[in-house]
Amino acid sequence: MSIWRWADWIEPVPEPHRVTLGEGDTPLVHSQKIGPAAGLPNLWLKVESGNPAGSFKDRFGAAAISHMLANGQTRCVATSSGNTGSAVAAYSAAAGLRCEIAVVETAPTGKLRQMMAYGAHVYRIRGFGLDPDLSSRAFAVLTAIGEQPEVRLQVSSYIYSVPGMTGVETISFELGEQAEAQLPRSIDHVFCPAGGGGLCVAVARGFDRLVSEQRIDRSPAIECVQPEGNDTMASALRDGAEQARPVTCTTRISGLQVPNINDGHLVVDECRRTGGSGHLVTDEAVWETQRRLATEEGIFTEPAGATALAGCLAAAAAGRIQRDAVIVCLVTGSGFKDEASVDRMLADVECPTISVDDLTE
Ligand SMILES: Cc1ncc(COP(=O)(O)O)c(C=O)c1O
Repeated sequence: MSIWRWADWIEPVPEPHRVTLGEGDTPLVHSQKIGPAAGLPNLWLKVESGNPAGSFKDRFGAAAISHMLANGQTRCVATSSGNTGSAVAAYSAAAGLRCEIAVVETAPTGKLRQMMAYGAHVYRIRGFGLDPDLSSRAFAVLTAIGEQPEVRLQVSSYIYSVPGMTGVETISFELGEQAEAQLPRSIDHVFCPAGGGGLCVAVARGFDRLVSEQRIDRSPAIECVQPEGNDTMASALRDGAEQARPVTCTTRISGLQVPNINDGHLVVDECRRTGGSGHLVTDEAVWETQRRLATEEGIFTEPAGATALAGCLAAAAAGRIQRDAVIVCLVTGSGFKDEASVDRMLADVECPTISVDDLTE
């Protein structure tokens, strides 16, 4: 399968230009232990780590690179905290396009090496992803480069790259089908991790589309979860403010280090319209949830991929969601992406080398 089974619903690309690596159609898994332990019997996990380059951003990569092919553009220039870069690098390789990526200073080595393995030219930009002024300056330079006719600047957000973002909306189309086939009732809440906010907006717009096509009668509440150290939109959304705000980023959760607004104002509008709110979690709560997903559910994710569930558990503990609600948490990326977080998870675990004699004992 691929996102192109939704070809009529996303930014149109003629058939010969559609690139796919088999992205999408990811599983919706019923939580076996974490949900019941939290008193949430209807907790489901949409596991995006099985995508070809290991995260939900592959939906973006497939749509964005296909759109470039259709427009005759040959040079993909992207910014990334890691996963957008891996996705556009993979799809550029498949399509034979040149790919250059400016990454945030703190991007995990695993993500950088993955981009380079696909043949992309990768540059770490000092201060990018941490300091909002430096990040805005980097975006301005890259936007100017993106004005050359053969180039398309790819940033996984609606303010920069609408065609690619329509590929991400396929998450909601799949959830609409999976809800009908697998769930007891329609979905009440979808918890999404948020960095620049594009994912939250894509999920909200995807459900809007399902409502307008009369496939479902109402949208779930789209809930935005951010680490406390990158609170550009979660508090604004929760407290009734109209706009997101830039911050100095202090979180260590890779993928969610986006100090500037990007799609933040859109998130505040669109999540609020669905009845969703904003949720903040500590980095420690994210790492603990990452560990629990692996040991209690068999799901190996990077920290960003555990953030939605961390937010959901905090909301349940604070009585902010009904216990019997039907809840989906997006698990957005693979554990193989961020080795340092796995080292942290396994700090007290040993893997001794033993002899065959020891083995018999
Ligand atoms: C694994 C993962 N989850 C969530 C996000 C957040 O997505 P967005 O920046 O669209 O809010 C990212 C962004 O890079 C990511 O890599």
